[in-house]
Amino acid sequence: MSRTEITAVEAREILDNRLEPTLRVTVRTEGGAVGRADVPRGRSRGVHEAADLRDGGDRYNGNGVRNAVENVESRIGPELLGHSVTDQSGIDALLCELDGTADKSNLGGNALTGVSLAALKAGAAAHDLPLYRYLGGPAATTIPIPLVDLIEGGELGASELPFQEHQIVPTGADSFEEAIRMCAEVYYELGDQLAESHGKSALSVGDEGGYTPSGMTDPREAFDSILSAVEECGYGDIFELGSDVAATHFYDPDEETYQLAEETYTRGELIDFYAELTDTYPLISIEDPLEEDDFEGFAELTDRLDAQIVGDDLFVTNVSRLQEGIDVGAGDALLCKVNQVGTVTETIETVETARRNGYAIQVSERSGQTADTWLAEVAVGLHANQIKTGTTRSERIEQYNRLLEISDDCGGDYATWLR
Ligand code: PGA
Ligand code: ZN
Repeated sequence: MSRTEITAVEAREILDNRLEPTLRVTVRTEGGAVGRADVPRGRSRGVHEAADLRDGGDRYNGNGVRNAVENVESRIGPELLGHSVTDQSGIDALLCELDGTADKSNLGGNALTGVSLAALKAGAAAHDLPLYRYLGGPAATTIPIPLVDLIEGGELGASELPFQEHQIVPTGADSFEEAIRMCAEVYYELGDQLAESHGKSALSVGDEGGYTPSGMTDPREAFDSILSAVEECGYGDIFELGSDVAATHFYDPDEETYQLAEETYTRGELIDFYAELTDTYPLISIEDPLEEDDFEGFAELTDRLDAQIVGDDLFVTNVSRLQEGIDVGAGDALLCKVNQVGTVTETIETVETARRNGYAIQVSERSGQTADTWLAEVAVGLHANQIKTGTTRSERIEQYNRLLEISDDCGGDYATWLR
């Protein structure tokens, strides 16, 4: 038996940052290497994502993952015994074959994600390498630019803002360390300003750790507040702005209109609104500006605006959907979430296809996750030039802390804003 052969696959139900169940999977090898990975979960999910298997019933309001745990231990684990953890693509192909469905609804995308990531981590451990180095090779030395969600709305924050994330992007920083320090200082200043203008309740944070000022309904007000804090800190040259609009969540498919607070927009009017925003603000990144099947609309925006157009619910990290986008020129950045597609190998294939076609790569958190720091490792390992991992809350901060360590470890260069 070789030392990298899998000897055990274990799973348990744990809790995420929303106190909701998720999976923790452990893969062990003959040589004693252990890989343990926690599975994240989106709330603002795309309909084309891999299935997230939940138990239903009363327990945890139906959100239990005992069936997914059972699938890992009884249906997946025995099939993996004896396989080498170093054969990631073989393991992932077997996972897809065992599941046998296009959307991973048989065994559960969450079950597959946990096993795939735990095997990857066990592979790194078996080689005695940090995960980012195992995944990315010697050239994995770039620390991605963070897009930091300072004000939250949509499905993820208790505010009335229609856009989900209002981000600062430290494109002008010289290093990741400096970037994070300046983001933190802007965060403190914005907090002071919002407490004054919107009351102390504005300091409550959403799922990704950004502020949630009540009474703020217009994205322009959020951008103005952020720019005011940036200016007060004297960082006008450092920061630009980004947003995850998550437009599907305020789209009315019957009327084919978008509802932003009190105002109803047609698709054309919303596209014009983005053009106005990019004319007015230093807005360089817009994620999911239109509903998740509007490839033509994404293409129109990509062509018309200088800002990068990021596909999240549009592509769902799925290579076929990305290819559909490439064919019509929809988007120029890929949002990359491993659990949207379900395995590491499929994620790598999508990222490589995106890169070959000139797309920027933004590795992303989910709104539900744990303090497991594979996200930071995977971002560097996939040579991503951007990362989106929220603001405060430990499950976000731990990613930044790990990136700071990786930056030290590999003498990391800070990424550039490739387009
Ligand atoms: P989710 O949201 O993790 O709840 O899907 C994050 C995003 O839309 O980018
Ligand atoms: Zn999104």
